[in-house]
Amino acid sequence: MKIRTTVAIVGAGPAGLLLGHLLAASGIDFVIIEARSREYILSRIRAGVLEESSVDVLASLGLDGRLREHGLVHDGIYLQYEGARHHVDFSELIGRTVTVYGQQQVVNDLMLAHDEAGSAVYFESSDVLPQGIETPRPSVDFVHGGRSYSVDADFVIGADGFHGVCRSIIPSGAITSYQREYPFAWLGILADVPPSTDELIYALHPEGFAMHSMRSPAVSRLYLQVEPDDDIANWSDERIWEGLHERLGVAGWTLREGEITEKSITPMRSFVASTLNHGALFLVGDAGHIVPPTGAKGLNAAISDVAMLGAALSSYYAGDAGPLAGYSERALSRQWKTQYFSRWMTEMLHTTGTGAEAQSRYRGQVGQLDYVTGSRFALQALAEQYTGLPIEGI
Ligand code: FAD
Ligand code: DHB
Repeated sequence: MKIRTTVAIVGAGPAGLLLGHLLAASGIDFVIIEARSREYILSRIRAGVLEESSVDVLASLGLDGRLREHGLVHDGIYLQYEGARHHVDFSELIGRTVTVYGQQQVVNDLMLAHDEAGSAVYFESSDVLPQGIETPRPSVDFVHGGRSYSVDADFVIGADGFHGVCRSIIPSGAITSYQREYPFAWLGILADVPPSTDELIYALHPEGFAMHSMRSPAVSRLYLQVEPDDDIANWSDERIWEGLHERLGVAGWTLREGEITEKSITPMRSFVASTLNHGALFLVGDAGHIVPPTGAKGLNAAISDVAMLGAALSSYYAGDAGPLAGYSERALSRQWKTQYFSRWMTEMLHTTGTGAEAQSRYRGQVGQLDYVTGSRFALQALAEQYTGLPIEGI
C-alpha cells in the first residue's frame, strides 16, 4: 500500500513523537513508523530529569499540562562524598531549575496527544527500511498488520534510537562514529517508597557511585554502579539495599526501603555520529548520539535536536532552506558540549581500577569534588550545564 506524506519519522520514542507534534503545529504532514508496541514503549523505564528548556519546548506545544501537575520542580542537587552531602543550589547560583518527570510520563503525554489529534502512528511495524535517501523522492518501506506499506516523503527522520536502522543506511564513507565504552554500568531500581531526599543525590563512594532519584512523592528511583558484565540475577533485593545504604549513608539520615518493582542493568557509553544528515535523511536523539546517564542528558538532547529540526523544517516549508542545511552542525555543536559535561560528571563520580592506582584516582576525585563544592565559579558552571545549555535557532 502506498502512502504519501511530507515527513516520514522512524521511531516513536520521545524524539519521534515530539517531532510529530512540532510538525503538526507548523501544518506539516507526517507519518510515524515504530517497531515496538505502544505498551512496550510505555514500560521502558529510562530518564527522569527535564532541563528547563525541554519543559519550555513541551509548553510551547501545550503539552505540559500533566507535567506541571505531576512534575517535581527541583532547585538543585546534592553532591556527596567522604560522608558529607553538599547542596548545589541552581536557583541561587544561576536562577534556573530542573523538573523531575519520568521519560515514560513524557512519552505517555505525547502518545495521548497524538491519539487526540488522530495522528498516523504505525506501531508494531517490521522490516522497516528507508529507501532513496540520496534522491529527492525518499520513502520508507515497512510491514504492518501483515500488509506491506511504502511511505513516500520529502524527508526521512531517523528517530529510531542507538540500535535503529536509519544511521546504518548512511554509506560508510559518509559517516564516522566516535565511541567510548566505560568500565562500569548502572543497576537501576524503582521502589514503592517515598523518596528519602527532597532533591537528587549523586554520591561518590570507595565502593562505587550511587544515586537517589525519584518519580513521584510515592516512588523512588535509585542507582548503583556495578561491573559492566554483571548479571541482575547476582543482585537480590537485600544486596541492592545493602549497597545503597553503604554508599548513600551519611550521619543523621536514613534511607527508607520499599518494595522493588523493577530492576535492570544498563551499560554506559558515549557515542557521536560525525553527521546527523545525509541527503534526505536526518538523525535525531539516540540515533545520532549517546551519553552516559550521569548528567541526565540523553532525553534532553533528544528534545533539543527535535526542537532544532522542527524549527528548521518549518522554515524550509516557509521558503528558507538555510536552517535545515545547518541542522547537523548546530545540533552536533550542542551535543559535543553535552558529551563533555556527561563524561566529566561520570568520571568525577565513578570508581575504577584496583590497588594503589584506584586509591590515587579516588583521592583525585575527592580533590575535584572539594574544588567544585568550594568554588562558586565551578558550581555555576555545573549548574549552567545541568539545567541545560540554550537551544540555538528555536
Ligand atoms: P529511543 O527512546 O530509543 O526511541 C527510539 C524508538 O525507535 C524506540 O521506540 C524503538 O523501538 C524504535 N525503533 C528502533 N529501531 C526501529 C526500526 N528499525 N524501525 C522502527 N522503529 C524502531 N537518559 C537519561 O538522561 N537518564 C537516564 O537515566 C537514562 N536511562 C536510560 C536507560 C536505558 C536502558 C536506555 C536505553 C537509555 C537511557 N537514557 C537515559 C537515555 C534516554 O532514555 C534516551 O536518550 C532517550 O530515550 C532518547 O530518545 P529517542 O527517542 O532518541 O530514542
Ligand atoms: C535519573 C537518571 C539520571 O541519569 C540522572 O542523572 C538523574 C536522574 C532518573 O532516572 O531519575
